[in-house]
Amino acid sequence: MIGIGYRKDFAEEWEEHPDLLNADFIEVAPENWINVGGYWKKLFYKKLERYPLFAHGLSLSIGSPDEPDFDFLKQLKRFLDETEASVYSEHLSFAKCDNAHLYDLLPIPFTEDAVKHVSRRVKQVQEFLERPLVLEIVSYYSSLAAEMKEIEFINAILQESDCLLLLDVNNVYVNSFNHQFDAREFIQQLPKEKVAYIHMAGHLKVDDDLIIDTHGEPIIDPVYELFEFTMHWLQKPVPVLLERDFNIPELNEMQKEIHQLKYIYNKILEKTKTLC
Ligand SMILES: [Fe+2]
Repeated sequence: MIGIGYRKDFAEEWEEHPDLLNADFIEVAPENWINVGGYWKKLFYKKLERYPLFAHGLSLSIGSPDEPDFDFLKQLKRFLDETEASVYSEHLSFAKCDNAHLYDLLPIPFTEDAVKHVSRRVKQVQEFLERPLVLEIVSYYSSLAAEMKEIEFINAILQESDCLLLLDVNNVYVNSFNHQFDAREFIQQLPKEKVAYIHMAGHLKVDDDLIIDTHGEPIIDPVYELFEFTMHWLQKPVPVLLERDFNIPELNEMQKEIHQLKYIYNKILEKTKTLC
């Protein structure tokens, strides 16, 4: 199952030429659609008649020191119910402090205190929304006051909060490059049974030792290879999303990427079936 991030940038073209993108589901950020009405809402709901929806939030800010914003959660729950979203995922990061939006997804310090704090908030959110939270491994450029490795931090939260994992393969690649670790070893240390969703995207190499996670370029071959490795390791079907947020290309360019993802996905799952 391969999905595409649904964007207003190409919504009209896709509506006119539905066969240009062969996706199995769509993903949106609820924040971008909660207060949308009229023409765009109509277009969006038309797509929902044909495609299951995956919701991928931007402003939950699970790592914030403050209490969760229950007014926002109320609106969010209504949106998830109305659109019958199959999955609600968010970022393992913080984006708000003292209720001020920072407009970025910042890494949470890898500490024992943060594990306890975030796990408590995850449980509050899951209970309120009455659905599991799927948390994404984010890209980061420096770590703050780390007491443990990133992998230990992620695994501790998954264990203590009982949430699920969104494995963004491109983010793992970007982090492994910027922080010099082995991406395959990292993936193998994750609990497979917790992986509920996969993201794939492009990035921008800005220097010999720095990659920026832009979602504005095509996926590069080493990230496809890491995806293939991940599917081999997982040995189970997990929904995969092609994320493209900037520099949106022609739909046939994105279709080529969807096609490539489907090819790898089906090849590995076929092999897995033969082995069983
Ligand atoms: Fe992602």
